[in-house]
Amino acid sequence: MDLRAGRFDGQMTDDAAAFSSSIEFDKRIFEADINCNRAHTTMLIEEEIIPKESGEKILKTLDKLEKEGLSALNLDPSFEDIHMALEDYVTKEIGPEAGFMHTAKSRNDQVCTDIRLTLKNEIENTIINIKSFINTIVEMAKENTHTLFIAYTHLQHAQPTTFAHHLMAYANELRRDCERLIDTYKRVDMSPLGSAALTTTGFPINRDRTAELLGFSQVMDNSIDGVSSRDFAAEAIFDYAMLSTTLGKISDEIVIWSSYEFRMVECSNQYSSTSSIMPQKKNPDIAELSRGKSTIAYGELMTVLAMIKGIPHSYNRDLQEVTPHLWNAIDNTNDILGIVHGMLSTLTINKERTEELAGANFATATELADVIVREKELPFRTAHRIVGRIVSDAIEEGVTTNDIDNDYVNKVAKEVTGEPLDLGEELVNQALDPLKNVKSRTVKGGCAPGAVEESIQNMEKFLKE
Ligand code: ARG
Repeated sequence: MDLRAGRFDGQMTDDAAAFSSSIEFDKRIFEADINCNRAHTTMLIEEEIIPKESGEKILKTLDKLEKEGLSALNLDPSFEDIHMALEDYVTKEIGPEAGFMHTAKSRNDQVCTDIRLTLKNEIENTIINIKSFINTIVEMAKENTHTLFIAYTHLQHAQPTTFAHHLMAYANELRRDCERLIDTYKRVDMSPLGSAALTTTGFPINRDRTAELLGFSQVMDNSIDGVSSRDFAAEAIFDYAMLSTTLGKISDEIVIWSSYEFRMVECSNQYSSTSSIMPQKKNPDIAELSRGKSTIAYGELMTVLAMIKGIPHSYNRDLQEVTPHLWNAIDNTNDILGIVHGMLSTLTINKERTEELAGANFATATELADVIVREKELPFRTAHRIVGRIVSDAIEEGVTTNDIDNDYVNKVAKEVTGEPLDLGEELVNQALDPLKNVKSRTVKGGCAPGAVEESIQNMEKFLKE
């Protein structure tokens, strides 16, 4: 079957044909292209636009092709794309009647219909996989609502929390990544089929019917928009890029926390490498690569935004170049998602160390200031100044958090305000105890075990939706 036979007297050069063919990445839309042709042909028969017998022969051949699979197609790049390869297959099977299948249809509406169908499946799968990862995180969090952990700001010791509280931060980020995809899905789930080349057709086609047959929940309202728009692809790539950011951040923390200086977690051997020269090494290569690869989707997003920016309506061949970048962003992010899921679920937490860090380096100082405010009705700024001075004196004198007692607080308070505070030993101890600190943060979203349990319940409700 030669598409050029009417208009031209010869072929493209080999390099021009290879340069312009999308066959390689069209393999991804093979099933969608069969379904698209099937729905369109069925509708053409129903609306009596093409002879019933020819239409049925086409449908049978499409079934045969589906059974035989992609390898039944001649994927020579001289075909330009999979739509031509598929038509060639049907033509070889049933002869010139195959030509009826292209009535009132263009590759312009066909390709974006195929991409949308395939993307819908991709998004559905990713949503399932994100939810499964969140579920793993929730199970880990349930086991760790009392596991002390240290939280950072500026990557400096900040306040004690629990491992569960930190894990639930991941779960909430992933939930938003999931919800973004659910929202994007609505804009992918629209049928451009029937737009034909750009202005629809004079044939009395039924666009609602093809949309229904293909499982789209609505028909695109404007045929020029139908064939020209790829905002749905850019939006999906953004969602995957954002998801890869979440995964990259988790990986980044695994790299830091597993270093000898932190020693808070240990990666399982299955997700670690060693050095070719330093025999003692255990390197978190998989976490590093997840962090590194998480940038790939950003590049794809910029590429696609630039491609769709400078072109007029309606279909331009530039749009063909969008598609492989969409698939690459998705494949890359899915790979990272699977790997980070496996890596996090096999991570060991060094509870002795995280407990030690939670109480060290004056991480509980905020609570001491809060106690002063509550018990002595002093303004927070005054309390902040007293505790700030306690810490700086303690560092200078080589005193640790554990050595700070009522006398120490009184001595410094007198220097700062002229008055002792007389909090008493119990209040001082309580304020500086990391576990009590954690348990006092019962506010919604806080790190107290009860608050984290509530957040776990919210997440479980979302997972069931
Ligand atoms: N391979 C093309 C794409 O991906 C299909 C549409 C080609 N249309 C055309 N008029 N050449 O966009």
